[in-house]
Amino acid sequence: MNYSGTFYGIGVGPGDPELLTVKAINALRKIDTLIAPKTEKKSDSVALSIAQPYLKPSVEIIYQTFPMIKDFAEETEVFEANKEEILKHLRDEQNVGFATIGDPMFYSTYIYIFQLLESCGVKIVTIPGVPAFLAIASQIGRPLAYGNDILTIIPATAEPNAINTALDHADATVLMKVYKNFPEVVDALQARGMLDEAALVSRCGLDDEKIITDIAAHKQEQLNYLSTILTRRKHRG
Ligand SMILES: C[S@@+](CC[C@H](N)C(=O)[O-])C[C@H]1O[C@@H](n2cnc3c(N)ncnc32)[C@H](O)[C@@H]1O
Repeated sequence: MNYSGTFYGIGVGPGDPELLTVKAINALRKIDTLIAPKTEKKSDSVALSIAQPYLKPSVEIIYQTFPMIKDFAEETEVFEANKEEILKHLRDEQNVGFATIGDPMFYSTYIYIFQLLESCGVKIVTIPGVPAFLAIASQIGRPLAYGNDILTIIPATAEPNAINTALDHADATVLMKVYKNFPEVVDALQARGMLDEAALVSRCGLDDEKIITDIAAHKQEQLNYLSTILTRRKHRG
């Protein structure tokens, strides 16, 4: 099959409208169709609202629902249907963009679609974006890793044993996707003396951004999906 359009995976950064790269803006200006990913629970797409100011007025916007998955193999039907919809537009000589929050190759739904399209022989251009954890470090003025620090990045949706083992060996640490198991994450950090150094940022760069440093006091709060914790083990001596 011949696909004459190009598929662009575009990282639009974590939310701040000035944190898109020139390359991302140029790609957004070029596309004819934009895929805006959304989850089953939420009707809006943060990635779309960041991308919107740069789109041609004629751009067709297609909302595609992606389930929050643990195992890609369990959700093949939804992904196949989304892939087919994208292929249809690429066959019609359209350039299709897929806007993704932060960076497309970092814990992103884009990765699944990228892998499916890659095996169909589609021309793909992936444009990196500023990942949320790096924007957060600058936003709150907290160097993330320096010298010989080893940076550990933990998705808090992982198995508790895996999270605890990673934390036992961690120094500079980023905890992503903390919205689900927040009370358990707080306990795990407390047990390792990593709470004093912790900062939680929700919706970094967006109008309703929240920065919380007394994390334990907020343990029972329902967090926004876009929430990340930066912390580190206290340096001794
Ligand atoms: C599916 S991952 C997407 C990561 C994204 N590709 C990146 O490069 O940052 C979703 C997680 O990213 C983090 N995240 C993304 N945007 C954020 C923001 N604006 N503020 C705080 N955390 C954010 C949260 O931990 C959230 O649960």
